Parts: sequence; structure tokens; C-alpha cells
Amino acid sequence: MLRYLLPFVSFSAMALGQAVELTNPRTSPEDVAAGAKTFRSHCATCHGIRGEGGVGPALAAGRFFHGSSDDALLKNISDGIPGTEMAGLFYSPDRVWQIIAYIRSLNQNPRSEVPGDIAAGNALFQSNGCVRCHRVQGEGGRLGPDLTSIGKSRSAENLRDSILNPNAVVQPRYWVFEGAGKDGTAYSGFLLNEDTYTVQVLDFEERLRSINKSGLSSYKVKKDSRMPSFRKTLNDGQITDLVAYLSSLRPKGDSE
Ligand code: HEC
Ligand code: HEC
Repeated sequence: MLRYLLPFVSFSAMALGQAVELTNPRTSPEDVAAGAKTFRSHCATCHGIRGEGGVGPALAAGRFFHGSSDDALLKNISDGIPGTEMAGLFYSPDRVWQIIAYIRSLNQNPRSEVPGDIAAGNALFQSNGCVRCHRVQGEGGRLGPDLTSIGKSRSAENLRDSILNPNAVVQPRYWVFEGAGKDGTAYSGFLLNEDTYTVQVLDFEERLRSINKSGLSSYKVKKDSRMPSFRKTLNDGQITDLVAYLSSLRPKGDSE
């Protein structure tokens, strides 16, 4: 009933973050300005003039339910989100990249303006188990997102919120499947995909599993984060240091 599925190897590569991701090629100040113009005429009615939200969700916070990578934004803006008011945009990828550059600019913090001690934050990252679930430059666990360049796409405010309120925004990629087999076996893991007969799960030992629904007596999908809140375990100064450390994680050569 439980078997490993070879056809899902590419899926596993994606889950393990090995797939090559597109990054925005249009990020100059001119691109941001052009993107702002398109945004005001085509997006602001629903998302607010500064991306603060309205009919559509806030885009200025830097956390996106449908995916926060450049890749995901390109897809969601170009194709739209089926079944919602978010229609696709029939523009060239270049023009969409410019809009993305503008959206990113709404919450960028120059590194120099983030208070806190980066080295102390790094030490806290190691000693509080963050590294057990998160990778930075190839080191660490895979049960949470790779944070290697998290400082580029998140404001300090936003990073603080991720640490204090992990449940506020949890992307579907991190929703958790829990099932009970008719034979008594318990299954759990990140829900990767589901079809009529099976669910594909990445278990917490990072193994890919395909589970036949017919063998289950019950299952549910939990949309809470696997990440514990650090509201009670860390004090304000420690959170500030952690945020300083996370903000400093940017691609090489990115001086701001
Ligand atoms: C008619 C209203 C409307 C317009 C115009 C519109 N959007 Fe949206 N947009 C929405 C709604 C509603 C959602 C949320 C869909 C859902 O998940 O239910 C959304 C979702 C999104 C998302 C995904 C957000 C997330 O959290 O993952 C992005 C990115 C986005 N819009 C960007 C844009 C951009 C850029 C434009 C202009 C080119 C635009 N939208 C124009 C209504 C709109
Ligand atoms: C048990 C595993 C686990 C631990 C421990 C953990 N995280 Fe997470 N973290 C996750 C998961 C899963 C997510 C994705 C779901 C979510 O957004 O909450 C996440 C999300 C995040 C995000 C948001 C990333 C994004 O792309 O939006 C940040 C920032 C973060 N964690 C930082 C930390 C820090 C700092 C610590 C240590 C103080 C920590 N995490 C400890 C599992 C963990």
C-alpha cells in the first residue's frame, strides 16, 4: 500500500529545492519605475496604490500565499489565479518582471537600517534549532524554506512576524497531511500533491511517499505551520538580532 513512486523523482527534486529557479532579470531603477506605472494603472484598483491591499491581498508585505519566489510571482501575475478575480495579464515577461521589481521595492530595507547584531543573530539561529529546519547556503535541514537570500525579499517587519506568528501565512507547500491507515499505520508529512486515488507526501524524514487513499480510514490536512512560535522563548532583543541576521542573508554582490 505504501510505495515509493519513481515518476515523482522530478517532483522530489523540486521539493528539495534543487530545481533551477528563475530570478528577475529586470531590477534596475528604470525597471522599478516602469513597473510602478503599470501597477498603478492595472493593479492598484484591487491591490491598493502602494500594494497595501483592498479587494486583492496586500502585496507590500512580501509574503505571498500562492508563492513568494520570483518564479511564482511571474506565473501568478501572468496566468492569474483561476477561480478568483485575479485575471492573467497578457504582457511580455519583461513587462511582468518590471512589475515584480516594483512589488519587491515596496518592502526593501537597506541592510544598514536594520537594527540588531548580525553575529549574535547567527548564534541564536544555530542554538534555537532554526538550522534544523532551514538551510542557509547549503547547510541545515529541509523541513522549512531555504533562507539563503531571504533578506532580499522580506522586510525586517515581515521577518519578525514570521518568527512570532508562523501561522499567519503558510504556503500550501507547507500544509501538513495526517492520515490513519486501516491497518493502524499513521502517516504524516508535507502535502505535495493529491489526486483522486493517492496523496503524495514528503515525510518529516524528507522521504517522498505516495499513499493510496483506499487504504486510509481517515485523513486531514492541517494548514498550521510546523514552525513553532518563538514569542515566548526569545526576548525582544534576541528577536531583533535574529531579524538582523536574516536581513543580512542576501545573494552575493547585492550591496543594499
Ligand atoms: C480585479 C481585481 C484584481 C486586479 C485588477 C489584480 N488583482 Fe491580483 N489578486 C486579486 C485577488 C482577489 C487575489 C487573491 C486571489 C486568491 O488567492 O483568492 C489576487 C492575487 C494576486 C497575487 C497573489 C498574492 C499571493 O498572496 O500569493 C499577486 C502576486 C497579484 N494578485 C498581483 C497582481 C498584479 C501585479 C496585478 C496587476 C497586473 C493584479 N494582481 C491585478 C485581484 C486583482
Ligand atoms: C520544526 C521546523 C522549524 C523550525 C525549528 C523553525 N522553522 Fe522557520 N519555518 C518552518 C516552516 C515549515 C516554514 C514555512 C511555513 C511558514 O511560513 O510558517 C517556516 C518559515 C520561516 C520563515 C518564513 C520564510 C518565508 O519564505 O516566508 C522564516 C523567516 C523562518 N521560518 C525563520 C525561522 C527562524 C529564525 C527559526 C529559529 C528561531 C525557525 N524559522 C525555526 C519550519 C521551522
